[in-house]
Amino acid sequence: MSKDNRKIALVTGGNRGIGYQTALQLAQQGVHVIVGARRIEQGNEAVQQIKQAGFDAEALQLDVGDSASIQAAAAEIGKRHGRLDILVNNAGILGDQVEKPSQQTLPSWRQVFDINLFGLVEVTNALLPLLHKSGAGRIVNVSSLLGSIAQHLEPGSSIYDMKFVPAYNVSKTAVNAWTAQLAYELKGSKIKVNTIHPGYVKTEMNQGGGEMEVPDGARTSVQMALIGDDGASGSFTHLGETIPW
Ligand SMILES: NC(=O)c1ccc[n+]([C@@H]2O[C@H](COP(=O)([O-])OP(=O)(O)OC[C@H]3O[C@@H](n4cnc5c(N)ncnc54)[C@H](OP(=O)(O)O)[C@@H]3O)[C@@H](O)[C@H]2O)c1
Repeated sequence: MSKDNRKIALVTGGNRGIGYQTALQLAQQGVHVIVGARRIEQGNEAVQQIKQAGFDAEALQLDVGDSASIQAAAAEIGKRHGRLDILVNNAGILGDQVEKPSQQTLPSWRQVFDINLFGLVEVTNALLPLLHKSGAGRIVNVSSLLGSIAQHLEPGSSIYDMKFVPAYNVSKTAVNAWTAQLAYELKGSKIKVNTIHPGYVKTEMNQGGGEMEVPDGARTSVQMALIGDDGASGSFTHLGETIPW
């Protein structure tokens, strides 16, 4: 298939972890992948690895915490491709860990929200015009089970005692809530927006302490990036299972 006929995807934070695997797996599915990376050298390295595996990709500098970088990236994608079919909002940070939720400092709250929520919203809004030019735009917001209010309130749930990164948890709740807002705006359009939990995955974010291998951790993002026109919008899932908000 020629490059022009292939879907074009941007994966933020695509240089390592779940983002890199998402980029690789999308490329394996015939998608032309743009690896968004805060540091372009790391984006270039990821692209080299994808190419060495026999697939196609390109790198793009994108710091989701920097408005100028976001605007420049959106302009560059417009110039290079004229449209965007898939946006995977994967970049994220955990922030400081605390013993009690009330101990998280305000600078820490702001840092986490700047990247996990405001960055994601700004990237999405900047790219929406290009997603509207796609015949079947897809937005995947990489959230977390830790964003589930229902599970946080449920004694005995797997996350009930996981209150040591409150800013992270609440930022992911906000990503879910934003997904619902945007899904409403996009109903009737060709764009679908969904939020996902990748699983508890062995990446640098949790110092390799997860339960899932990284390739498996990318599967939900890839699945939702490639859903058909009859697929969901405004859902919160993990590997096809609905997660309580
Ligand atoms: N691992 C898990 O168990 C787990 C569970 C639930 C949800 N998630 C979510 O999955 C996503 C990926 O996490 P991961 O586990 O793969 O973490 P990771 O290995 O720490 O990777 C995080 C990625 O985000 C990028 N990033 C951070 N700040 C950025 C910024 N300002 N601009 C652009 N990119 C930025 C990093 O880039 P640099 O290399 O430049 O730092 C890196 O590529 C995150 O949204 C995370 O919250 C992970």
